[in-house]
Amino acid sequence: MTERLPILYNKKPCYDIVFTQSFEGLWPELEALGFGECRICIITDSKVDELYGEEVLSLLKDRCRKAVKYAFPNGEEHKTLDTVKDIYTFLIREGFDRKDLILALGGGVVGDTAGYAAATFLRGIDYVQVPTTLLAQTDSSIGGKTGVDFDGYKNMVGAFKMPRLVYMNLTALRTLDDRQFFAGFAEVMKHGLIRDAMLYEWLIENMYEICERDLDVLQEMLLRSCSVKKAVVEKDPTEQGERALLNFGHTIGHAIEKSRNFELLHGECVALGAVAAAYVSWKRELLSMEEYYEIRDMFVPFQLPISVENIDPQEILRLTKSDKKMEAGQVKFVLLKKIGKAVIDRTVTDDEILAAVNEIYFSDEDAHA
Ligand code: GLY
Repeated sequence: MTERLPILYNKKPCYDIVFTQSFEGLWPELEALGFGECRICIITDSKVDELYGEEVLSLLKDRCRKAVKYAFPNGEEHKTLDTVKDIYTFLIREGFDRKDLILALGGGVVGDTAGYAAATFLRGIDYVQVPTTLLAQTDSSIGGKTGVDFDGYKNMVGAFKMPRLVYMNLTALRTLDDRQFFAGFAEVMKHGLIRDAMLYEWLIENMYEICERDLDVLQEMLLRSCSVKKAVVEKDPTEQGERALLNFGHTIGHAIEKSRNFELLHGECVALGAVAAAYVSWKRELLSMEEYYEIRDMFVPFQLPISVENIDPQEILRLTKSDKKMEAGQVKFVLLKKIGKAVIDRTVTDDEILAAVNEIYFSDEDAHA
């Protein structure tokens, strides 16, 4: 069954998130938005291209004015300005103008990079998101954050640019390997933890079906999870305040991601960062000890890490300070007041961060103990 969630911008309908189980409905959605006569450039990566590139291209070809596809190599290391430059070159070569459309087909790297190209090409052209990973479906395709990594820092260059549509074919989740699938689940958990205790409970109750990737259960999960994201981004589209709550787990998470040279997936680092943030919350007596251990252990059945090797806690501390979530020299840390209620805190000390990193650090000494 197809379901939709409208996203409002300044209280007016801005774009819809469509939840469905095939690509068949994509063309009618694009036509209804008035893209029937334009050129469409599918931007994807080499991995997603192999799986869905031709299928999506053939659904658009001979229907719109022109449909072309540009695939860049898979991997976070390609989320760069160089890739954006290659996209501009391709669009110019194919004669794209301001009335044409970019269709981002893939995971978070594709959505952010293609979205940034759309935000800047000819001072901005329309784009739609067709996310194919759990991480992109539950988080990165919604809310208009676009951008690329720069100089080893995540998302350092970017722009807010709302998509015209987010179209999710949930069957794509079935082709993800376990590691990719569960990495995305960390962002679903995050939505429950920061704003929706009922979602958190629902995830526990439906653990088996989620791990089995039952499509109807995944659809309900995404509808619930995206409703949290909707509520936050509608209130604060450009992250002047509350949207920063979505960075729960990301301050320490991004630092681990960088320190481990992007060998760990973003969602894995978010799970580690979430455990660390919950630990600080417990130590500040915002959460009880039971709640802390429950949150920590909740990641385990979803194959997410709760401890990490090969990091230097001092380096992680240093990296949290160079993350772009700093404001006036202070780290904006997201803590939990209870399950389902997060708060932004600018007073977390170096000692608290170090203690939290040590809590999740699995050192050689632990291995030999
Ligand atoms: N992924 C965090 C945000 O969209 O604000």
